[in-house]
Amino acid sequence: MKGTDPALLPDADDIRRAADLLRAGELVGMPTETVYGLAADALNVDAVGKIFSAKGRPADHPLIVHLPDAAHLTRWARAIPKEAIALANAFWPGPLTLILKREEGVPDAVTGGQDTVGLRVPDHPVALALLRAFDSGIAAPSANRFGRISPTTAAHVREELGDKVALVLDGGPCQVGIESTILDLSRGTPVILRPGAISADDIARVIGRRPATRTAHAEEGAAAAESNQPRVSGSLAAHYAPRTPLQLIPAARLVEEAATLAGEGSRVAVLARTCPDPRDARLIWRNAPADPAGFAHELYASLRELDACGADFIVVEALPETPDWQAIADRLGRAAVGSGDGEAAPDEHDET
Ligand code: TXA
Ligand code: MG
Repeated sequence: MKGTDPALLPDADDIRRAADLLRAGELVGMPTETVYGLAADALNVDAVGKIFSAKGRPADHPLIVHLPDAAHLTRWARAIPKEAIALANAFWPGPLTLILKREEGVPDAVTGGQDTVGLRVPDHPVALALLRAFDSGIAAPSANRFGRISPTTAAHVREELGDKVALVLDGGPCQVGIESTILDLSRGTPVILRPGAISADDIARVIGRRPATRTAHAEEGAAAAESNQPRVSGSLAAHYAPRTPLQLIPAARLVEEAATLAGEGSRVAVLARTCPDPRDARLIWRNAPADPAGFAHELYASLRELDACGADFIVVEALPETPDWQAIADRLGRAAVGSGDGEAAPDEHDET
């Protein structure tokens, strides 16, 4: 994969050790092209239970099962629509998770008791090597504590989970940087439950119809809870959140509002995209890449850094409202809602 120096990747012994740990019911930090996952044997209910306690995640939030290749699909899903096969052929390995009817034997612990399961083949040489060595499904949510920023390096995983994880495989920084697109194909009309690097247009080009999108925060909460909607913790209004309060401000007002927030005694961390650094000592200024892929690649590492720099506020330059920025806007919107210690903590928003 681009950006990963093969000389630094774990070797065959590391992969064997990781697969043995998974077989022994332990947790392993696993790099993928999107974010790092907290991996466990998807068929071992006790091991899957460890994921929930390590993350502090509600037990009814389902996990994505990672597969070595699409040939494994039929062990995990039934009534697989042709569209799923076409999408798997087009995008796997890659950042697309398909929600399908689950096959018998897929534990409730993985699916949150639902009749569906989320499946994907990740596009990372280390993840694929581990999956091939393990030769079965690996359940892996993002390797962060519930509601917090997803990890995009091995060091982030250790920061988040410490010794709760037996081993972290270091696969370098994640290429994509935000979580996979989740597409629900289990109920007739394809619905994007979480936007990601693979867009509605990309999907439409393969299946010949445009998926619906379920991302508006307003649709969550009551409506989703009462209908039979699956629980998607990535769809909670507050998620992916730094501890420092975060807000989005349009470029035209960025410098002025950041300076106002800083006032006399505060420090403001700014993640800008187009605005040049005004060189104000009260502002910790960082310029992000101006293109969506570059921006996504660095986003979580930047948020972590800005969260750790002792600022009182984080200000992010608002994004263009075009489809290519949608997945990033989704994450930043939720980061803003969930940010700040104490207020609007994500686990208090667990109504979806
Ligand atoms: O890119 C990714 O998808 C990363 C890497 C590690 O693969 N994984 C990831 O996992 O983001 P997690 O658990 O942090 O987010 C997975 C989302 C959750 O919001 C979960 O609720 C949803 O997928 N999900 C899993 N199975 C589902 C199902 N059967 N129905 C609906 N949503 C499901
Ligand atoms: Mg997550």
